[in-house]
Amino acid sequence: MIEINGKTNILGVIGDPIEHTLSPVIHNTLCELIGINAAYLPVHVVSGTSDAGESNISVAVKGLYASGVKGLNVTVPYKQDVMESLVEIDDLAKKIGAVNTLVLSKNGKGYKGYNTDMPGLRRALETKGVELSGKKVVIIGAGGAARAVCVMLESAGAEKIYLLNRTKEKAEKIAEEINIVVPLSLDEYKDIPDDKYIFFQCTSFGLKPGDGLVIDDDDFYRMAEYGYDLIYNPAVTPFLAKLSELGIKNDNGLSMLLYQGVIAFEYWFDLKVPGDYAKLTYAKLCQKLYGENIVLVGYMGSGKSTVGKALAEARGMNFLDLDEYIVEREGKSINQIFAEVGEQGFRDSESFSIDSLKYLSNTVISTGGGAVIRQSNRRMLKECGTVYYLSADVDTIYDRVKDDDQRPLLNGLSETEKKSKIADMLKARSQYYESAADITISTSNKTIEEILHDFEICDEL
Ligand code: ATR
Repeated sequence: MIEINGKTNILGVIGDPIEHTLSPVIHNTLCELIGINAAYLPVHVVSGTSDAGESNISVAVKGLYASGVKGLNVTVPYKQDVMESLVEIDDLAKKIGAVNTLVLSKNGKGYKGYNTDMPGLRRALETKGVELSGKKVVIIGAGGAARAVCVMLESAGAEKIYLLNRTKEKAEKIAEEINIVVPLSLDEYKDIPDDKYIFFQCTSFGLKPGDGLVIDDDDFYRMAEYGYDLIYNPAVTPFLAKLSELGIKNDNGLSMLLYQGVIAFEYWFDLKVPGDYAKLTYAKLCQKLYGENIVLVGYMGSGKSTVGKALAEARGMNFLDLDEYIVEREGKSINQIFAEVGEQGFRDSESFSIDSLKYLSNTVISTGGGAVIRQSNRRMLKECGTVYYLSADVDTIYDRVKDDDQRPLLNGLSETEKKSKIADMLKARSQYYESAADITISTSNKTIEEILHDFEICDEL
């Protein structure tokens, strides 16, 4: 935490209600990582008017400016109303019709309003490698959020947007303003030509437990090459669950929340937030929102499954075995997957599964021995929790795996061959385990109780 003193800059977020805001996590983490003397606070401005007839939001913005507050975010219900209290408004915010960031104006006594939600979504997609230029898009929903996404997509050079909404008139209204939009009612989804599209889920359906799919037809979702849901709580909406079931890459709205904050921070302090700081901040947001995970990496037989299950039980956490998850998703055994698509095919499936771990919370995740070979996997694992390398020596590993015929890389070898293969692979892979891990725990010649005790010591550090 930054030490508060007489020179501390004040930042904040205005809203009503405000107690569930995650923005302080983003900005206070960035202040700490970059080393900026500032503190970011929630500011609860109650909707209403003063005795003099002025709106509370207007009184608050003037008062915060007069108090020297360096930067503000604005959230529900003030993203439109705040505009009246600003000395300048950026063109994109005007076009979107909503302001979420206030920056000290260089041209007047007051704040300039920006919209960083849509640039935030754009940067989130860029960091995921999702290209928008020249792309065809399907959007479900036609409220304020969907309209803003259409504005963003048009300026990012998307080719066409099929905009589906329960109330078709709202989609038609957006189409009047934005040329590339084709408005459709929900039951007209079959009119969308068979092709590959980037999908955006922009309705509020999916927020509540028990919500389902706005359109319930697998053939519709199969047209997605990638899908993004603006909702981030719950982490997995019915829309995202459907895409994962069909093997289509997808993300929830948490990365948009992160990057709208990152871009606001860049305006306030006139700097560029380094990518790894943004990623650390994302990990912190995940922890706060979805709970902390423990990820176990290491060679086969290092004890990941046994230790993982015992650790989950002792701490009241869930347990997930990555290989079992892959088997369930593919509907085939690991041996079958290797036989059909080879190691490369298996690794692709493994990477896809690792990407979806980010939605887990309060879970001990045991990974396969080769899960850390790809650098992108190591990064994704680190983002979803604290990573422990369970190390073990060759003899310990051999004893633990010698009778198991579900290890495709050791199948059909003699004892000497198995030991020498284990030694070779350990030598080749230990660097990956070490670079993947936050903490290393040796499991050679140790009982489960002793290993669990080691975890407790690490926690106290
Ligand atoms: P926001 O500003 O977050 O976009 P909004 O303007 O209230 O919020 O829009 C909510 C969107 O969710 C709309 O597209 C709405 O459809 P309608 O325009 O027909 O109201 C959509 N939506 C909400 N609940 C829905 C449901 N149960 N089924 C289908 N669409 C739903």
